[in-house]
Amino acid sequence: MKRIFLDHASSTKVDDEVIQAMLPFFSKFYGNPSSIHAFGREAREAVDAARTHVGEILGARDDEIIFTAGGTESDNLAIKGIAYLNKDKRTTKGPHIITSTIEHPGVLEACRHLETQGFQVKYVPVDNQGIVDLESLRDSISKNTFLLTFMFANNEIGTIEPIEEIGKIAQEHDIIFHTDAVQAVAKVPIDVKKQHIDLLALSSHKIYGPKGIGALYIRNGIKVQPIIHGGGHEKGIRSSTLNTPGIVGLGKACELATKRMKKDNIYIKTLRDLLIKNILQIEESHLNGHPEKRLMNNAHFRFTGIEGESLLLGLDEQGIATSTGSACSSQKLQASHVLLAIGLDPVQAHGSLRLSLGRENTKEEITYASKAIPQIVDKLRNMSPLWNR
Ligand SMILES: Cc1ncc(COP(=O)(O)O)c(C=O)c1O
Repeated sequence: MKRIFLDHASSTKVDDEVIQAMLPFFSKFYGNPSSIHAFGREAREAVDAARTHVGEILGARDDEIIFTAGGTESDNLAIKGIAYLNKDKRTTKGPHIITSTIEHPGVLEACRHLETQGFQVKYVPVDNQGIVDLESLRDSISKNTFLLTFMFANNEIGTIEPIEEIGKIAQEHDIIFHTDAVQAVAKVPIDVKKQHIDLLALSSHKIYGPKGIGALYIRNGIKVQPIIHGGGHEKGIRSSTLNTPGIVGLGKACELATKRMKKDNIYIKTLRDLLIKNILQIEESHLNGHPEKRLMNNAHFRFTGIEGESLLLGLDEQGIATSTGSACSSQKLQASHVLLAIGLDPVQAHGSLRLSLGRENTKEEITYASKAIPQIVDKLRNMSPLWNR
């Protein structure tokens, strides 16, 4: 059976060049990068080179990059690390942290945890295409607000947020601005200085690098309190022996992305546009999210009268991997908080399916999926009490 991976927002295949770059750091250059002997120095050099590549894709300096174990940890470090330094602003007056209703759990749960610690958090709504309501954001700012955290692009519906404008608002009010850019890196041009970003979270496994490694950009001059204490690695901000193979892999993935991004993204967008065009020919099918301000690899549909889960399973039987929500929440049966936030009702939310493309997908695969989806939708509708032709 053909196997087609259309779930690149959940994870990606590690690029062969990334694997080749990593391999020697398991067996030959296995020294601890903190050691001062030659084994350690070899590893340290590779870590330094990777740091430069990660900085390059963001328009940041290498000394502004801290390695972590992934996007979730980077988000937690940014949000809690800033909040703990602003404990004095834990009063009942006004929202102190402002975020949106459609963030990834890595941000939302960190904020909810801080609410149990006496911090106040304001969750700003989005419109029905997933764009953050900037008026509501402006109105929510009080003199106690110390942090804005807004995702660069949404992991479910792919909507790209007005990050530069949010950055400007933060700058005007002298508030620190963190963005979860896990889905945006390598897909959207990022320039942390121009976009007024103070902290930015990224993850390697979304950009053809290995799992379990990520980074946090911290603008020079911004202080972050560590959430993991230990031997003082990463300037004391993130203790634990550095994951040299992972870091080398992330560095290589960023280096490749910087080189290939333009060309890859045009190719992937062409396939994605073809997929959207084909699927929207299905009766009562709709595209969720913004029609243009969306990640070039994301297609998110809802189909009246069927359940996304059944569609996903039907496609899986035909070798096609898709998703009904974010990878982390797709095992839960509640309707996606993102889809509810853009105004869908729970039935509509449950009738949704995400397809996310990557650089190995081919036109043949898209044609195959474009034939399989209408057939399964039709079969499910024929059995559905919700479908009234
Ligand atoms: C927007 C967003 N933020 C954070 C994460 C978490 O990243 P990681 O899996 O590296 O912890 C993800 C992963 O799905 C994501 O899509």
